[in-house]
Amino acid sequence: MRRELPPTAGLPLRPSDLLPRRARFAANLAGWLGVADPQLECSGTAAMVVALHAMHRLRPQRDEVVVPAWTCPLVALAIHRAGLKLKLCDLAPGSIDLDAAQLATLCGPRTLAIVPTHLAGRVVDVPAAMAIARDCGAYVLEDAAQALGARHGDASVGLLGDAGFFSLAVGKGLTLYEGGVLISRDAQLRQACMASRREVIRTNPRWSMQRAVELLGYAVAYRPSLLYAVYGKPLRAALAAGDPVAAVGDDFGPDIPLHPLGRWRQGVGTAAFARLPGFLDYTRRQARARLEPLRALPGVTVFDDAPGTQGSWPFLLLTLPTGEARDSALDTLWTAGLGVSRLFIHALPDYGYLRDIVPAANLPNARDFAARSLTITNSPWLRDDEFARIVDTLQRVLRN
Ligand SMILES: Cc1ncc(COP(=O)(O)O)c(C=O)c1O
Repeated sequence: MRRELPPTAGLPLRPSDLLPRRARFAANLAGWLGVADPQLECSGTAAMVVALHAMHRLRPQRDEVVVPAWTCPLVALAIHRAGLKLKLCDLAPGSIDLDAAQLATLCGPRTLAIVPTHLAGRVVDVPAAMAIARDCGAYVLEDAAQALGARHGDASVGLLGDAGFFSLAVGKGLTLYEGGVLISRDAQLRQACMASRREVIRTNPRWSMQRAVELLGYAVAYRPSLLYAVYGKPLRAALAAGDPVAAVGDDFGPDIPLHPLGRWRQGVGTAAFARLPGFLDYTRRQARARLEPLRALPGVTVFDDAPGTQGSWPFLLLTLPTGEARDSALDTLWTAGLGVSRLFIHALPDYGYLRDIVPAANLPNARDFAARSLTITNSPWLRDDEFARIVDTLQRVLRN
């Protein structure tokens, strides 16, 4: 059987996780994250829709949401679904942080929310966004879809801003195949989010059943011996067809499922949650050990924790000195079965299917990041000899 590693460090499920049990998932998360009443939703996208809907109820004269120009296309779809307008902020040069100077010019009396985004589990500068948001009367909604377990000082990400959300989608550490968690330290906002949930989320047995079946499929197939069939083969087919957007699964339809997160899947989360802190510790140690050899490569930047923060490590995010070097490295590594991939293929305006909802804009830093970045899985299945092969390949490409 052909060995294929996943592009991110997902927590594998055990057969016993699948047994029906009393769901204490929200309570577990509340204790661990240090926040009252985390709200479970069917996806990170759904959590974002609910949060924005709630914010808009509280400040109805505001209808613009400012997001980084290099982020998940689902973010644009969520803003559209909430009936709001998207405004793009470029990244700071060579960084995943929002460009603070540009952010200040984008915000004003119509700004509903700023969305600092903890990409790749790295904790970005929320205080800078908070200062600008307070000046203009906007909320800060932390997109921590990729950062469950990341901390800013002693507090979980999502608690520095007014609200935050995590994704439990496939590959995101703890997964329920799809799922989302919405948190806020602000009781008024929490209440508004509950009210929005009653308005926006609708029972849908077909989706609930589909997600349950998909989670069972994940429990079976999420292992190096079976991932080639369900992940590696479609990946290679998409790349052969010249479709990198499909290869990384960035090709989303306009319909966002908005249904409750089923009881059985919450029970699976309850069981898997017991192993999450240990898994995050392990992946943190593994990532730390692998940063050095990558940093030694000429012209390579590996994204690490900012001072005072402790991120989570689903994968390692790096930039190569040029787009040509990055493409040349991926020619070998993307289909090598070693969990090397890309994060988002484009800056948001460059996805054809988002054309009607994302404004065109000059975004040199976001486009540069899209062109020079790649990711290396931080799955515990990536052995040291396999990691060394990745480093060797990068070294060879950079020498040429
Ligand atoms: C940065 C970011 N925001 C939002 C989302 C949406 O989360 P979900 O896939 O759970 O809907 C994702 C998903 O990958 C993401 O990476």
